[in-house]
Amino acid sequence: MTSVVNTARRARLGILISGRGSNMVALADAVHGGRIPNAEVSVVVSDQANAAGLAKAKERGIETLVIERRGRTHEEHDQEIVEALRARKIDLVCLAGYMRILSRGFIDAYRGRVLNIHPSLLPSFPGLDAQKQALEHGVKWTGCTVHFVDETLDGGPIILQRVVPVHPDDTVESLAARILEEEHQLYPEAVALVLENILELSAATTDDRRV
Ligand code: GRF
Repeated sequence: MTSVVNTARRARLGILISGRGSNMVALADAVHGGRIPNAEVSVVVSDQANAAGLAKAKERGIETLVIERRGRTHEEHDQEIVEALRARKIDLVCLAGYMRILSRGFIDAYRGRVLNIHPSLLPSFPGLDAQKQALEHGVKWTGCTVHFVDETLDGGPIILQRVVPVHPDDTVESLAARILEEEHQLYPEAVALVLENILELSAATTDDRRV
């Protein structure tokens, strides 16, 4: 087994966004506040030049990159993002409202090291408009999920989930806002958990090599 994080330095996070970036802010603030220990947000990448989250990242002194699709194939676009992440020695990639499905090449390059947050209790309501799907289905409870990203749509191994009630008078907006509050707590917890376990794995691997 190979070590995926160099324990001699802080883990380097790369966050991919397409829009508002409130989960990116929650992660960056959790790193800053020590709730995600031994880590730094090294870069925020957006596929949209007008993503509101870019300004929020810059305000926090984080490097930002805009890498637009612009007539290239999905694979070429993803490859450019992977190269940018590799150039910055990114250990863990966090999708935070990134509105594209990752290509096989991206997933292979960062297998087991890409996380996503989704606004439902997966495997219920994958894909777009998860809050609307939950309302239309009439569920009484929904929530949010942080999971590893694999080739399936919102189907990779689940890391953490949080349950949120659906109120009888909820609109998509009111439900989405209630879920989002929980997302902002859950994503940092999940990232801290993953980094802790990667570091443990890394330390164990180093010990094995010594024997
Ligand atoms: C969140 O609801 C997240 O669960 C989903 O996209 C939304 C992104 O919001 N994947 P933000 O850009 O983090 O504010």
